[in-house]
Amino acid sequence: PHISTIQNSYDFEKLAKGILPKDAWAYYSCGSDDEISMRENHYAYQRIYFKPRICVNVRDIDTSTTILGSSSSVPFYVSATALAKLGHPDGECSIARGAGKEGVIQMISTLSSMSLEEISKARIPGATQWFQLYINEDRNVAYNMVKEAEKLGMKAIFVTVDAPSLGNREKDKRLKFVNETDVNLGDDVDKSAGASKALSSFIDCGVDWNDIKEVKSWTKLPVLIKGVQTVDDVIEAYDAGCQGVVLSNHGGRQLDTAPPPVELLAETVPVLKKLNKLRPDFEILIDGGVKRGTDILKAVALGGKDIKVSVGLGRPFLYANSVYGEDGVRKLIQILKDELEMDMRLLGVTKIDQLSPKHVDTRRLIGR
Ligand code: FNR
Repeated sequence: PHISTIQNSYDFEKLAKGILPKDAWAYYSCGSDDEISMRENHYAYQRIYFKPRICVNVRDIDTSTTILGSSSSVPFYVSATALAKLGHPDGECSIARGAGKEGVIQMISTLSSMSLEEISKARIPGATQWFQLYINEDRNVAYNMVKEAEKLGMKAIFVTVDAPSLGNREKDKRLKFVNETDVNLGDDVDKSAGASKALSSFIDCGVDWNDIKEVKSWTKLPVLIKGVQTVDDVIEAYDAGCQGVVLSNHGGRQLDTAPPPVELLAETVPVLKKLNKLRPDFEILIDGGVKRGTDILKAVALGGKDIKVSVGLGRPFLYANSVYGEDGVRKLIQILKDELEMDMRLLGVTKIDQLSPKHVDTRRLIGR
């Protein structure tokens, strides 16, 4: 169908399911075990209600903000996902172009299907890219990746720590990893059962907090930890001097029944405030299950003025890119931006930094 008929992020998903090869659909869409975290990531947003304010002059709405010091047209970004070429021949490069043209930041996976150099060349002038690092058993490999990321103009390093072992992704396991995309990882990956297994053989399960300190010593770029799943670990990351964390359960693909990140966010913010752990250079990012402008506004509001929160989307961008390439990526961003503008108007805020916990009612979250 013509791209102009697309109404929302779900439409891309439906179309992607219809056109993607079976193995690509299985790899992109699957969660682990019973896919409970994957489902709840999304549903948890529905347990938060808004507290809309009336009689606010909302003629002029501005969705722009900064994330880790870089400007962004919206408070969301493209999260790192492996193997974009499974869905579209331009892979991560069409995501780079589409996001860049819309003023949106792209986080690039260690396990991309194109080289970091190629993807950085596709960057639109003035656009921001970040690098997501998986730490290999050979620390020289990790070191060289960080140095290359610096050299290629990446603006932050995200160390993903929620995948020391592969989640049990059954849909994906049933299929052999047969695609011929170049994954930049050499030949020593295990291709016997699904894309996930092939990729996870790259990741060292021996990573600990000392490695985080080591990565910090390699670079002056902000270092953030992706895949934080408890308040205690947010505090560890804060105390370790990280510039932030990504509250994430990897889109429900790792430990099933790990908490929905937005619930964790609601739990985390009051604790950080109480402990006065509020550095202006410590930001919280969150991903998983985000489909709508309203989801994004809820997460940002939970952080409010004291803690800057930004929101990542993984699968929605893979689906949009798979179906329409660069145009799909742009369309998805435009749809979400339009939703944000309308929702902000209805909520009674005109700028992102006006959003506060007062705009959300979290009483229906479990345990509250
Ligand atoms: C991911 N994710 C991921 N994360 C990461 O740090 N490195 C990676 O290589 C990948 N690869 C990857 C592949 C696929 C197919 C998916 C769906 C996800 C996790 C990703 O960054 C993000 O945490 C989730 O995708 C967020 O959930 P949603 O938006 O997909 O619901």
